[in-house]
Amino acid sequence: MNLIVNSCNKISGKISVGGDKSITHRSLILGAIANGKTEIINYSQAEDCFSTIKCLKAMGVEINVEKNKVVIVGKGLKGLKEPEDVLDCGNSGTTMRLLAGLISGQNFYSVLTGDDSLRKRPMGRIIEPLKLMGARIESRKDNFAPLSISGNRLKGIEYKMPVASAQVKSSLMIAGLYADSETIIEEPIRSRDHTERLFKFFGIKFKRKNNKIVVLPAKEFSGKIIKIPNDISSAAFFLILGIFAADKLILKDTGINPLRIGIIQVLKDSGAKIALENQRNFCNEPIADIVVKKKTPKPFIISGLLIPRLIDEIPVLAVLATQLEGRTIIKDAKELRVKETDRIKAIVSELKKFGADIKEIEDGLIIDGPTELTGTVCDSYKDHRIAMALTIAGLIAKGRTIIKDINCISISFPDFINTLKEVCGEGYLQLDDTFVN
Ligand code: S3P
Repeated sequence: MNLIVNSCNKISGKISVGGDKSITHRSLILGAIANGKTEIINYSQAEDCFSTIKCLKAMGVEINVEKNKVVIVGKGLKGLKEPEDVLDCGNSGTTMRLLAGLISGQNFYSVLTGDDSLRKRPMGRIIEPLKLMGARIESRKDNFAPLSISGNRLKGIEYKMPVASAQVKSSLMIAGLYADSETIIEEPIRSRDHTERLFKFFGIKFKRKNNKIVVLPAKEFSGKIIKIPNDISSAAFFLILGIFAADKLILKDTGINPLRIGIIQVLKDSGAKIALENQRNFCNEPIADIVVKKKTPKPFIISGLLIPRLIDEIPVLAVLATQLEGRTIIKDAKELRVKETDRIKAIVSELKKFGADIKEIEDGLIIDGPTELTGTVCDSYKDHRIAMALTIAGLIAKGRTIIKDINCISISFPDFINTLKEVCGEGYLQLDDTFVN
């Protein structure tokens, strides 16, 4: 399916972008090994989360998906059963990496696989430390799925992570629950801490000392009712559009975890009009109604500690940068090259088609602006965040844009186009399956 986008320079409204994908994955996994019932309210309807649900069901967990909540009947720490077939993680890196941690300490054999994109993504980063813990994992070239895992007794290790990755950290934290002694994980830079916050919410013991997390062998814990904040990474697309076009746009009940809101920090520091109203908590996670009004900020330089706090937002920040007066630099973001696609290559090649002045560097981007964007035919690379960033580019650009292959948007935000229609009105976005380039 393709998406036809026409320019739209006036938006307003009050919207909910849907539950946070990262927190939903973790809630599902911890709910599956809790004792008794867990309810996940405002769960993410992302396809990625359904991959996690499918894999957990295949290991014998009863999961009922209702309209507004998911109900899990937890099996306890030792209650999962051997799946009869391979576990298909689809496009979801979080599913594969977190489940690898979970499965390594079970007493059965299983195989994790995924789609063409996921089978090209590096898994050595979890295989190596999990093997140090005693996991028995076979993989292609010691780095790529399918991963075949023969469950084993795990031992605690002290591990210094070479890359900042919440998926690796969470994989090891979950494996650590099954180890027979303390597991100490050290992050080079602090990454999103949803697993830590949920551990605390479920009453699972761990300690944090600066960048080190100490996980203790787990004791049984009980299911909970979890209310999920709306996803800041989905809200990001609306924040950027709002900067150009919003009279007043409110993004309700959105997660503002300090380790996720790099985008808000950068935009506010550069002069954008963004306010966090009605701040409160959902189950250990801070949330707010984010209010954005039209005002063009200054260009920015992002690097270092900030990168893990906005890594998924870089494609849409690049779209914004094309409209700012001066040079924007994004560096230390090499991780973008191993996401669902090489996002540095993809965003450079596609924004150039709109007329942007954007250059690829090894670990980031250099963007000079402002440039007038002109509607074009462009390609999603079957990557949800590239497809959505290009949609925002299309709404800002003059004339008509066609984005090819936009089905991938459901990987994280199935309601993206409908939600955009809520704030833009009808006539700006149209699905199309007839266009052939
Ligand atoms: C995620 C962590 C990040 C992020 C991904 C979701 C998570 O990946 O890019 O979309 O839920 O833990 P890395 O851990 O690879 O940095």
